[in-house]
Amino acid sequence: MKTTLALTLGVSLALNAATAAEGKVDFVKDIQPILQQNCIKCHGAEKQKGKLRLDSRDAALKGGKGGSALVAGNSAKSDAFRRVTLPKSDDDFMPTEGEPLPKAQLDLIKKWIDEGAVWPESAMAKEAPKMVAVPGPVLPTDFKPSAAEQKAIAALAQKGVDVRPIAANLNWREANFRLSGTSVTDTVVVPLKDIVGLVDLNLANTKITDAALSNLKGLTNLQRLHLELTGVTDAGLASIKSLPNLTYLNLYGTKVTDAGLEHLKGMKFLRNVYVWQTKVTEAGAKKLKAALPNVDVSTGWDLSAMPKKEEPKKEEKKDAKKDAKKDEKKDEKKEEKK
Ligand code: HEC
Repeated sequence: MKTTLALTLGVSLALNAATAAEGKVDFVKDIQPILQQNCIKCHGAEKQKGKLRLDSRDAALKGGKGGSALVAGNSAKSDAFRRVTLPKSDDDFMPTEGEPLPKAQLDLIKKWIDEGAVWPESAMAKEAPKMVAVPGPVLPTDFKPSAAEQKAIAALAQKGVDVRPIAANLNWREANFRLSGTSVTDTVVVPLKDIVGLVDLNLANTKITDAALSNLKGLTNLQRLHLELTGVTDAGLASIKSLPNLTYLNLYGTKVTDAGLEHLKGMKFLRNVYVWQTKVTEAGAKKLKAALPNVDVSTGWDLSAMPKKEEPKKEEKKDAKKDAKKDEKKDEKKEEKK
């Protein structure tokens, strides 16, 4: 008898190990994001529709008005699962707003419940962090472009640069010189000095130098500035240091050094600075971070953090090729290791 018990135990332990190996559903990785995205805004700390919370295991087991929402080990008896699998037209269907969960997610939820609805104590589902946690710049609502601004916009339009509103009925504008690339020199960008409504400016991959940046001094609403792959140096950054609202500054592939970053210390809204392939050191990045705790200085080639950009120009591709190859090789190596 004892031996059988020991045997059964042994077998079931082995079975458990086997399921773990072949991939038990992982709450934190697989289930929590589904709850967070689809359920928590109505069944969390802020709202409890149907008196139900789905942000802890206990709360889900306890359920809401209609009783338990979750029966560990039994998806068929779990009201939460029943509801997400109903046709969208059903009164009980969840979520009440938005699209039905995709089949792959339903399969995961079913498997997770049937595997015992393992929900680690530490994993309390929280509402996705709000992006506005740190205050950002505020644009005045009553901004009206001056005559000089309109003239400057027209002048740039003649050169083929569209300075367009960021949204319909708004006077805030964005300008992208990147597409005109190498024909853009310091003189071409002079009209920018009057376009006070500019919030987003892309000068990447143009022929501008530090001299061009002196035209940006008065662009107090500017929030995003692309200077990557230009002739800009530390001296240029001195002329933009008092832009109060800048949140994003891309300096990738410029001659900027740690001394240049010193000029940025007063930019209280600055969040993202890209200094890949510059002379900026880790120490320099750290120093800026000490002055501006919310800033993120990207010194490495982090694809996920790079902004989406238009098709790079051919010249740029040539420059970037070597590094791209390096990266490819690295990736291949990683693959091999796996
Ligand atoms: C936009 C709001 C909203 C979202 C999002 C939402 N629900 Fe609901 N939920 C409700 C409302 C309202 C009720 C109460 C009405 C009812 O019982 O149909 C409810 C009730 C429930 C109940 C029954 C509670 C009880 O005991 O009466 C369950 C279970 C449930 N929801 C599960 C879910 C799950 C799982 C998700 C995510 C996939 C989800 N809900 C997303 C609004 C929402």
